[in-house]
Amino acid sequence: SAAEKGGFASFMEKEIHDQPAAVADTLLGRSDVDGNLILDELRIDEDELRNIRKIIVLACGTSSYAGMVAKYAIERWCRIPVEVELSHEFRYRDPIIDANTLIVSISQSGETMDTLMAVRYAKEQGARTVSICNTNGSTIPRESDAVLYTHAGPEIAVASTKAFLAQITAAYLLGLYLAQLTKKLYREEIKDILSDLADIPAKVQQILDNADSIKELARSMAEASSVLFLGRNVGYPVALEGALKLKELAYIHAEGFAAGELKHGPIALIDEGQPVFVVVPSPMDRHSLHAKVVSNIQEVRARGAKTIVVAEAGDETVRDYAEQVFYVPETQPMLMPLLTTVPLQIFACELATAKGYDVDQPRNLAKSVTVE
Ligand code: G6P
Repeated sequence: SAAEKGGFASFMEKEIHDQPAAVADTLLGRSDVDGNLILDELRIDEDELRNIRKIIVLACGTSSYAGMVAKYAIERWCRIPVEVELSHEFRYRDPIIDANTLIVSISQSGETMDTLMAVRYAKEQGARTVSICNTNGSTIPRESDAVLYTHAGPEIAVASTKAFLAQITAAYLLGLYLAQLTKKLYREEIKDILSDLADIPAKVQQILDNADSIKELARSMAEASSVLFLGRNVGYPVALEGALKLKELAYIHAEGFAAGELKHGPIALIDEGQPVFVVVPSPMDRHSLHAKVVSNIQEVRARGAKTIVVAEAGDETVRDYAEQVFYVPETQPMLMPLLTTVPLQIFACELATAKGYDVDQPRNLAKSVTVE
């Protein structure tokens, strides 16, 4: 009913607007009386987590892109090697696992069969398991050694939005928790990141409040037959998610690429009028990736691409090379996916709506895939 949708035309639109609360609620109540970060359910000794030598993140679909963000954050903050693998691929490749391996599963529903089976398999091989999950008491968290619940609230639309932002938030929290446990970050550093995270909900709200131009662009692109997305570092999973949303909702052929890979193949796809979204790293990125991605924009533009750029507020350099720029508020580079994802969600939702599609129930898809 209209009331359930909170006045929005679809659950998806409502859930996109629920995101400031989803992030804020996921951040709530994360520390004990001494100010230490805690997990929701810890059924193993923290010493076992201190001895972790390798982390494997397992997930499917949108959740796997949250897993990619987890990799960047955990490796940077904890200096523990992290692999990310699709659950269904992981199980059938005789992965190398032992008691010093930590499996981090990410699942909105907690019931995805591929992920559940992968977690069970890893447990049998002796791994420790942490579940990032949005559904209290579902199977995957119940069977895991520790849990970090996302508090996005029930997600109705098949395509994940608020659960994704909550998963990314939880991934950062897990990274900080492990960094605290292994003393890889100073207390002050952890506090600074937490304080920047606390500012995210208001920044997401700002994006939502200024979404008219992205919606207008979406409506004007309803006839597009292919859209490409480029991103780098933490912007890479954002590009993948932007492309997935467009496939899922608007049935448009869309691909996400790591921007550095462009010259190794995808650039051949570019011809006159090809729309290309580019998620631009912060100019403050420690690896100076900003300049490299700006030159990617120039490269595709020189070949006729219509470039649509998502960049950080104040980044004026991108203006000259972009058909259209959408700015997101500033935050530290690692946290940018919580902001840059939002315009891409709005774009896909609006475009699919303009085409007359049911964004809550895309064809051929199920919210929770409980078969292999
Ligand atoms: C289905 C949904 C996707 C979701 C994926 C993983 O394919 O359509 O939106 O990302 O499952 O679901 P999970 O519940 O494990 O996060």
